[in-house]
Amino acid sequence: MQSENLQVQIGEITLRNPTLLAAGILGLSGASLKRVWRSNAGAVVTKSVSQEPREGYSGPRVVETPCGLINSMGLPNPGIEETQKEIEIAKDAGATVIGSVFGEKAEDFADLTEKMKKAGVDAVELNLSCPHAGELSTIGRNPETTKEVVEASKDPGVPIWVKLPGNTHISSLVEVAKSAESAGAEAIVLINTVPAMAIDATAERPILGHKTGGLSGHAIKPIGLRLVYEVYEEVDVPIIGSGGIASGEDIIEYILAGASAAEIGTVISDEGLDIFEKICEEASSYLDGREIEELKGKAHQE
Ligand code: DHB
Repeated sequence: MQSENLQVQIGEITLRNPTLLAAGILGLSGASLKRVWRSNAGAVVTKSVSQEPREGYSGPRVVETPCGLINSMGLPNPGIEETQKEIEIAKDAGATVIGSVFGEKAEDFADLTEKMKKAGVDAVELNLSCPHAGELSTIGRNPETTKEVVEASKDPGVPIWVKLPGNTHISSLVEVAKSAESAGAEAIVLINTVPAMAIDATAERPILGHKTGGLSGHAIKPIGLRLVYEVYEEVDVPIIGSGGIASGEDIIEYILAGASAAEIGTVISDEGLDIFEKICEEASSYLDGREIEELKGKAHQE
């Protein structure tokens, strides 16, 4: 059941509720995007796609640790052409679809955005922050390169969102967010996974095939909250939180920090797709008739 007071506005897009499927999970096929939409997600974000198909890294690609999952997939995807068809399936089912893209150069992002627009997405999320993809990881750490990519992709026909890293050592992350906003981004998504690794003491080797990966789940929620809180003080465009959300209370905390909505990912592997309904019900009962807008950023008040 949808309650009216869960509706949120992200720039020109109205979401039926503030929960989005995070990029990278169940976002490859039209059928799975449709399934997540029907499980009450407010919007679904596709897996990040590139111009050409990519195989990704060799395994193991995911490791479970006591404090969350570490994954190092290597951005495997079937390329934009195949993905366009899958998006059309999800759009035909009535889903609000966000197309996640990544590339090496500003022109790649511009071209991918154009192709996503043709496929009918409601917004494009520029993944500038995969934590372990060499050069591809560095764009969102730098205000200049972020500006260049956003300016090249900006198109009046489709809103641009920018997904930034959760790397705590980037002192200029607020500057990157401001730069994305001034270049025309309509929303900032914070945070991507946090660089991490796991080592097998018996084998005396790193566990992941790629050695390092990105940590997600509960452990990164305080990191996400801090970055959303800091960026909210400096930018006016909506912020979409991400990182460790598994309950209505978690999403409300992100909203109090300044987010308008939030992406849900890792918890799905434990709790399945019912999590969207559960988070919405819990958030709704916390709101107790109030609008999300009334709570947004409230933790900043003295
Ligand atoms: C991958 C991409 C990401 O953006 C991320 O946060 C973690 C992993 C990947 O495909 O390897």
